[in-house]
Amino acid sequence: MAQIRIASKISHLSYAIRDIVAAAEKVQKKGKKIYWLNIGDPNRFDFRPPQHVLDAIGGALKGGKYTGYAPSQGEPLLREEIAKKEGVGVESTFVTNGLSEGIDFIFAALLEAGDNILMPRPAYPLYVTKSKVLGCVENYYECGPEWVPDVGDMRRKVNGKTRAIVVINPNNPTGALYPQKVLQEIGNLAAEHDIPVIADEIYDRLVFEGKCANMRDVVGKDVKLISGNGMSKNYFYPGARVGYLALHGQGMEPLEEALVKLTNARLSVNWEMQFGLLAAMQGSMDYLGQGVEKLKKRGALLHKMLNEAPGISCTKPQAAFYAFPKVELGGRWKDDFAFVHGLLEETGVLCVPGSAFGAKKEEGYVRLVFLPQEEELQEALMLMQKYVSNGGKCKSLKLP
Ligand SMILES: Cc1ncc(COP(=O)(O)O)c(C=O)c1O
Repeated sequence: MAQIRIASKISHLSYAIRDIVAAAEKVQKKGKKIYWLNIGDPNRFDFRPPQHVLDAIGGALKGGKYTGYAPSQGEPLLREEIAKKEGVGVESTFVTNGLSEGIDFIFAALLEAGDNILMPRPAYPLYVTKSKVLGCVENYYECGPEWVPDVGDMRRKVNGKTRAIVVINPNNPTGALYPQKVLQEIGNLAAEHDIPVIADEIYDRLVFEGKCANMRDVVGKDVKLISGNGMSKNYFYPGARVGYLALHGQGMEPLEEALVKLTNARLSVNWEMQFGLLAAMQGSMDYLGQGVEKLKKRGALLHKMLNEAPGISCTKPQAAFYAFPKVELGGRWKDDFAFVHGLLEETGVLCVPGSAFGAKKEEGYVRLVFLPQEEELQEALMLMQKYVSNGGKCKSLKLP
């Protein structure tokens, strides 16, 4: 019998951050220790959600009151809290199964085949993948020094089929934090062309110095703005799968109606978990200070050690838990994939090729996560330094 037929759009679905795990598991089976610098899950390391969040979820479960479908657009108390924080009406807020589902909904509502979304290069891969699945054309704006968006390039890339501009601040995969002035310029461009901005601000509290400027505080009502946030990163609870969208600006009613339909069609988000996000948003953020301090130290360590290695350069991460260094491939490695797989086989250090985020393969970028504790991180970075210095060889490497 023939094999079941799969729609061609599935061929566009890939998620290198997880896909690469299969390769790592093979190496692990051979007895090698793996340094998991590939995935941004703080719970794999020494970061935990605050206790009051766990208590709120536990309390909601114990009462047995929330075992039915939740309201499709979200628990009303949570929507109220989101509305207050975002400065919009409750009807402009939507609770989703992680921000990932929010991105899905926005793309479903805005995009026809042949359209494009302006995305940063490099960008979190979900945006690229989802737009390709919908038959959209790739359209990237470049990011300049310190990985800050080049608004001039953005301006050049806007065309008649551009349906939104994605701004990820703080940024995954680069760890960049954007200056307010740049956000204002993006807002001006969006207003001029009347193109919505999707502001992905899921890391906005994980900032090492100063504060993250939220797009909603920077742009006026003349900008159609979709803000996205959630429980996964700021509250160290990605497994909760709760995120949200908030719509700002004028002329957003059709999107509001589309989101009502899309959320109705998928019924609801886990009700108990929504009480977790409510408690997170209402509760103390004291726990965060320690977490951010750890991240800042680890980011600085990574920055120092990578720049010490000949043939690697890396901008200093300002926020979140990612860095995006460049490796001089110099004929030793064909591309970023060859580098990443070689590094994994030789040292057990697992990172993600930059091309998974839209960088060009030959440029030699990789994404690293600096969530592991200092000792582990230092060991991984030492291995990486030696691997690069030895031109891709370090089987006999002994750590001090
Ligand atoms: C920039 C960015 N946006 C969205 C997401 C998805 O978030 P969630 O866990 O809320 O689906 C991630 C996850 O890593 C991310 O890095």
